[in-house]
Amino acid sequence: MYELWEQAQLGPLTLKNRTVRSATNEHLSEPDGRLTRVWADTLIELAKNQVGLVITGHFSVDGSQRADEGQPVMDSRADPELLRLAASGVHAHGGKLVAQLSHSGPKAPPAVNGLPAKNPADFSLEELDRLVDQFVFAARLCQQAGWDGVQIHNAHGYLLSSFLNPRTNLRTDEYGDSLENRFRLTSRILTAVRRACGKDFALLVKLDANGCGDLHGLLNLFQEADVDGAEVSGVDFSARAGVKEPFYLRDLEQARDGISMPLILVGGIFSLQTAQNVLAAGIPFVSFSRALICQPDFIARMEAGVQEESACLACNGCYKVYRQRPVRCVQHTVPIPQLSKVFGSRG
Ligand SMILES: Cc1cc2nc3c(=O)[nH]c(=O)nc-3n(C[C@H](O)[C@H](O)[C@H](O)COP(=O)(O)O)c2cc1C
Repeated sequence: MYELWEQAQLGPLTLKNRTVRSATNEHLSEPDGRLTRVWADTLIELAKNQVGLVITGHFSVDGSQRADEGQPVMDSRADPELLRLAASGVHAHGGKLVAQLSHSGPKAPPAVNGLPAKNPADFSLEELDRLVDQFVFAARLCQQAGWDGVQIHNAHGYLLSSFLNPRTNLRTDEYGDSLENRFRLTSRILTAVRRACGKDFALLVKLDANGCGDLHGLLNLFQEADVDGAEVSGVDFSARAGVKEPFYLRDLEQARDGISMPLILVGGIFSLQTAQNVLAAGIPFVSFSRALICQPDFIARMEAGVQEESACLACNGCYKVYRQRPVRCVQHTVPIPQLSKVFGSRG
């Protein structure tokens, strides 16, 4: 039986407890995608408040295909000083830091990028080779700055999720049709990142419980790819407003036969009791997004025994507004230092 506050191993990482901050787009880059000090401070604040593993919001590995104007880019322009500052700040509080790496694909708005969004079928073979290199380059930047690992974003309808999904992957070559073929691009990225960064750098993935039509098959492929952990979310997470129970637990329970890689569950976990129920169901890590938008200190409060239920209403107001302004709770006031300095009236 897993205990929430016990030290735990996730691949090469020793975490101080079993809590994870799920990737949450902080919307705190400069409008051109460069990192900001307030972005780094936001991550450090989470570690200070006892989050065992902090996963950043999704970084775009391709500056020309961002998801929105506040999404940071992990390419040659990423400031190494700020990357180092974020890692050392998180480490100083006993946390671990992992960057979520993504390509927006069909969810890259032309209004932001000045280019049409791209579906899986729009990529040439040369472009896919380049994409693999972009993920590797981004992972190496994180490693050089002292980060603990990366999470490759295979969920929520972004590019890799769209490759895995038979409804959106209409390719007729070796990257389309069967699940093995649809997994090929992800597999190439995982292999190349592992080769470039080695075994001591955590290689995680986030995936959809309900995107590719065969969760068991998908988990098996990730396990064979030797990832250090898989976080399970779903394509429809944003349609679950008001639901405060772990909405992908059932899918995961039905699909995890023979799966021994560490699993992380996200979605609908808003209380100590729910987190403990997930652990009791044999899932070793619990992940939180909206509860930590509402209260970045929620994990510390649970651990100290001063609060067991999140104040988050699960209203999804944060999800509706976050493309226009820095991500934060629309119901409760969360002070973010220096916000007005960075964003002026946008803040
Ligand atoms: C404002 C906002 C931004 C998000 N940004 C990301 C992201 O960058 N990457 C990602 O994988 N998921 C992102 N998510 C999804 C969350 O990580 C999580 O999967 C989902 O909200 C369900 O978890 P919860 O019930 O704990 O909020 C975001 C969610 C919200 C509300």
